[in-house]
Amino acid sequence: MVQAKALTKRFGEFEAVRGIDVEVRRGEAFGFLGPNGAGKSSTMRMIASVSPRTDGDLKVLGLDPDTDGPRIRARLGVVPQQDNLDNELTVRQNLQVYGRYFGLSRAETRRKAVELLEFAQLTDRAEAEVEPLSGGMKRRLTIARSLVNDPELLLLDEPTTGLDPQARHLLWDRLFRLKAQGVTLIVTTHYMDEAEQLCDRLVVMDGGRIVAEGSPAQLISRYSTREVLELRFPPGQEFPPEHFADLAERVEPLPDRILLYTATGEAALEQVHARGLRPLSSLVRRSTLEDVFLRLTGRTLVD
Ligand SMILES: Nc1ncnc2c1ncn2[C@@H]1O[C@H](COP(=O)(O)OP(=O)(O)O)[C@@H](O)[C@H]1O
Ligand SMILES: [Mg+2]
Repeated sequence: MVQAKALTKRFGEFEAVRGIDVEVRRGEAFGFLGPNGAGKSSTMRMIASVSPRTDGDLKVLGLDPDTDGPRIRARLGVVPQQDNLDNELTVRQNLQVYGRYFGLSRAETRRKAVELLEFAQLTDRAEAEVEPLSGGMKRRLTIARSLVNDPELLLLDEPTTGLDPQARHLLWDRLFRLKAQGVTLIVTTHYMDEAEQLCDRLVVMDGGRIVAEGSPAQLISRYSTREVLELRFPPGQEFPPEHFADLAERVEPLPDRILLYTATGEAALEQVHARGLRPLSSLVRRSTLEDVFLRLTGRTLVD
């Protein structure tokens, strides 16, 4: 669906995307995970064929965006990072205007709007104006609108940023349905839980480069341990990382806690107690993509 080799985007002197290789296969949910400024949106806009590449090769649906932009765009659905709905139109009109834009007949457009309102769970808001809708509803409407042309490939740039947990889960559920229908999804996100939930495969981006690639499970087993023991000590009574070196494969001090990477968190915690140490709190958890990112870059994803 997408094949990129040494794909590069420069804005003047500044290199936002620094020669990345990516392959997205039909039917998968593929993710770009990385912090703000990693180059995710710049990459998405090149794939969406709305921003020309500076260098490298790019094929989308087997076509070259430089010469086949309109043909590619006709087969894509795009959900940009910022909703760009028409606030002066109703929910239904937003869908119908888009249908007409893609060249559907009036009758087709009307039928499609009914179907997509149902999909987005917005049927009871169909005649409402867009402006007062909640963030989650606007996001679902933007996704519904991106489906007007029955796209084979759907590009979602930070689909749930700024939404509350309930709205995010509702949205994820809609995306799972699309995937089950065979739509290929490309998602950017800076939320590791979103990447873990949605993506079959992903690349971790940082500073315009890809720093790792694989399924969430592969990345975790390659770059982290099975479990993590998180310890918090009272302010002023923290210990240096070396203090725990023999209890874990890796020790990572953060401003407010210290992380001990180990296959068996409970065993490490017992050792901590056996040494007479009394942390304010302790937590044993599974490794996540956040730990992968920390390992790869030395930074946390969401500051
Ligand atoms: N139109 C532009 N002109 C100049 N710099 C840009 C432009 N768009 C993005 N950038 C810069 O490129 C870098 C990557 O941005 P972006 O692709 O939006 O990252 P992300 O989506 O991962 O947050 C950032 O440093 C950003 O400031
Ligand atoms: Mg972005």
